[in-house]
Amino acid sequence: MIYLDYAATSGPKPEEVYRAVDHALRNASGNPGRSGHRLSLAAGKLVMETRALCSRFFHAESADSICFCSNGTDALNLAIHGALRRGDHVITSSLEHNSVARPLEHLKQFGVEVTKLDTCIETGVDPQQVADAIKSNTRLVIISHVSNVTGTVSDIEAIGKVCREKGVLFLVDAAQSAGARKIDVQKMRIDLLAFPGHKCLYGPQGTGGLYVRPGISLKTLKQGGTGSRSELLRQPEDLPDKYESGTLNVPGIAGLGAGIQFLLQEGQEKIEAREAELTNMLIDGLRSIDGVRLYGPKGPVRGPVVSLTIDGYDPQDISIYLDQVFDIAVRSGLHCAPDAHRTIGTLEKGGTVRISPGYFTTEEEIAMCVEGIGAISRGEV
Ligand code: ALA
Repeated sequence: MIYLDYAATSGPKPEEVYRAVDHALRNASGNPGRSGHRLSLAAGKLVMETRALCSRFFHAESADSICFCSNGTDALNLAIHGALRRGDHVITSSLEHNSVARPLEHLKQFGVEVTKLDTCIETGVDPQQVADAIKSNTRLVIISHVSNVTGTVSDIEAIGKVCREKGVLFLVDAAQSAGARKIDVQKMRIDLLAFPGHKCLYGPQGTGGLYVRPGISLKTLKQGGTGSRSELLRQPEDLPDKYESGTLNVPGIAGLGAGIQFLLQEGQEKIEAREAELTNMLIDGLRSIDGVRLYGPKGPVRGPVVSLTIDGYDPQDISIYLDQVFDIAVRSGLHCAPDAHRTIGTLEKGGTVRISPGYFTTEEEIAMCVEGIGAISRGEV
């Protein structure tokens, strides 16, 4: 199969990731931070190592600023529900995924006020617009770094500067950017960074994390055993234990560590450049096909996500043809981001077909995908 659905989850993974998961299941199968025997200590060591790697990768102040979560949505929920209270105002964009839009819609019932900024597909969220929207009760700004529908990139550093100057918390949804674009939480003045482990960081599904800038205290979404301060009935305040009740996904976290190590060894710039090259090749090929409409930035600053429609075709049918006739995996529909489709005008048309190459994609695979789309658009399928 030709896998062009990296934006949903990366596949294949680097060989080291499979090996790390297998190794953890066999040799570090104890409960981390709970017991004192060697299997428990080995599990704790793996968790500590990945935490340190995440911290280094995002340039966090310390490893304790990284809390493991079960995916990007879990991390966003901890940040959003943990930070907001009745009467607070939140600013977000018109390109957000439901993992931001739905918690905010839910919180509206509890007195949280939400402003969604119209967002430019070419250049992303305008930092000046963020500054203008900030009010005395604004507590949080939430922006996705890279749109999962259009590949639009927002200038996180410029928005972070605005938020820090105005004393407002800045939460970045790095679902499509963690591992795909350089992120430095200190330089970009990010207060909270939610990242999935299974996309561009090449870890297994069921992994992710939230960076919490030192000094920020969130309400906990869950309370329970942490393996620390067990004499207390209240949740400990120590980080990262405060947010990590329950047994962690050690095999997944070990795989995530191997994924990040792969990124560090290979070099993120090299990966970014390769993905940009493949994306440009894809766009160039698709542009020449009659009836194909492309959505997303026309300039060079974009993520490796290409959304399209073909006149007269339902996006679902296109992805079924690609799968069944050409053995090509893509995603079609709304991609859990109805606001983004409202912005590009595809909400009522069944969304788009999204093609998302990754580092392991080859030029031949891109060419075969372009050929497949061409054949469908000419009615040959
Ligand atoms: N959020 C993921 C996507 O865009 C699952 O496909």
